[in-house]
Amino acid sequence: MPDQRNFYLTTPIYYVNDSPHIGHAYTTLSCDVLARFKRLDGFDVFFLTGTDEHGQKVEKSATAAGKTPQAFTDEVSENFRDLAGLMNFSNDAFIRTTEPRHARASQAIWSALMENGHIYLGSYAGWYAVRDEAFYAESELQTDDRGHKIAPSGAECEWVEEPSYFFDLSKWQDRLLEFYEQNPDFIAPQSRRNEVISFVKGGLQDLSISRTSFGWGVPVPDDDGHIMYVWLDALTNYITGIDYPDTDAPAYRQYWPADLHMVGKDILRFHAVYWPAFLMGAGLEPPKRVFAHGWWTNEGQKISKSLGNIIDPYEIVETYGLDQIRYFLLREVPFGNDGDFSRKSVLNRINGDLANDLGNLVQRVLSMVGRYCDGRVPAPAMPTDDDRVLLEQAASAIEAIRRSMDAQAFNEALDTIWSLVRAANGYVDHQAPWRLHKEDTERRDTVLYNLAETIRHLGLYLQPFVPDAAASILDQLEIADDQRDFSRIGGGHAMKPGTPLRKPSAIFPRIAAE
Ligand code: MSP
Repeated sequence: MPDQRNFYLTTPIYYVNDSPHIGHAYTTLSCDVLARFKRLDGFDVFFLTGTDEHGQKVEKSATAAGKTPQAFTDEVSENFRDLAGLMNFSNDAFIRTTEPRHARASQAIWSALMENGHIYLGSYAGWYAVRDEAFYAESELQTDDRGHKIAPSGAECEWVEEPSYFFDLSKWQDRLLEFYEQNPDFIAPQSRRNEVISFVKGGLQDLSISRTSFGWGVPVPDDDGHIMYVWLDALTNYITGIDYPDTDAPAYRQYWPADLHMVGKDILRFHAVYWPAFLMGAGLEPPKRVFAHGWWTNEGQKISKSLGNIIDPYEIVETYGLDQIRYFLLREVPFGNDGDFSRKSVLNRINGDLANDLGNLVQRVLSMVGRYCDGRVPAPAMPTDDDRVLLEQAASAIEAIRRSMDAQAFNEALDTIWSLVRAANGYVDHQAPWRLHKEDTERRDTVLYNLAETIRHLGLYLQPFVPDAAASILDQLEIADDQRDFSRIGGGHAMKPGTPLRKPSAIFPRIAAE
């Protein structure tokens, strides 16, 4: 079944008016971990990210910077490419919505919707929030003390009145509900799925999908006066990236429908309501799954530019280390929930989980191998029940990890890995190889061998999460680069006794409290 082994996943494309912050880093990180996991698990992965460069918000930022939108976006989209370098993201492609291929794709989906009778010309009179690039119904808004209309997201709205094309979203209520019903895993987590379903049950209004009062967007086919609503353009990136409108192209055939669109909870409605309706309206298949993750606060406070408490990925990586930050973000909260970034919890995770539990295990075991076994992988003798239990836990962990990854429960996958770390630490304490060194060197070698094998498994499993540290563990065990995928799990690929090992080096040093 070769086509079961493909995996296409996407991040949202980021508005270029902001500098990259922890929110952007987090969404892409979650995809990166999954992409790396799937590659190691034998999948042909396509991992797409990029930048959302059209719309009123970006146009305004360009004007404020005294630049043309094109020059502005050329410059700032680079910041998002650089973020991938900083965070060690393994995206296979980077898409910009200002690329000519994307205008072609957006116009093609527009034309398909038009031909299928889902678009009509009318005029829009209502509220619009530039910050969200979203239309809101009067009933959704609150009035602040200055008399301004405020969206549920906190964004200020303005009154817009202009000719506009509409998508017949109001006709999609039943089809969408039926689609959610038939595809219970389409929206995750479950609580978000319930929210979307009740939103759709509440009734849908036709959606304005073109603007005339500014010009920074993809021109509407056959009507120069209009540009496309930025969300229709932006969502289309997911198929532009695999060569739509050429639906016979190898990439499109191989990867559509996407396995997963990862998004933040704030943009779920666009992905779980509008996007499947657009796709079905254009005669295309909807994606398989949309996962909405939670938001981070900074030391308990909502993160916002006006509060000046944006968390800069460069600063935290510089202060704590890259793998340390990757680990913290994925481990600290059940994926899907909101989380709080506090310096104290970062230090606890680093000094507890990484330095104490994992780092010490690796360091202790490898230095004993260095000292007692002449720096060579020792040869095991007959295993005891304790040995079998540990090795069995090491090899079988993949099944639980795989299940967690398929549910995007990254913290659970890490829990499983840390149970193995704890089991290995317990085994060290219990077997006491330093005592065996004096009493029974054959048993000492068996114990150290089993520990080295367990650490090899830990190295394999940790690769998606902390790629540099995992590589260092596997390097220290002299595991060749082509022996690091998940087909190497288990005793059949165990380390060869006698292999000389290099002098061990620490992987996660403790960090002193600030
Ligand atoms: N351009 C749109 C997406 C179009 S996709 C077809 C957009 N861009 S964005 O740059 O504003 O947001 C990108 C992502 O950052 C979202 O997934 C959002 O949830 C995430 N985050 C922004 N702030 C965040 C936190 N404080 N915490 C976690 N994620 C947050 O929306």
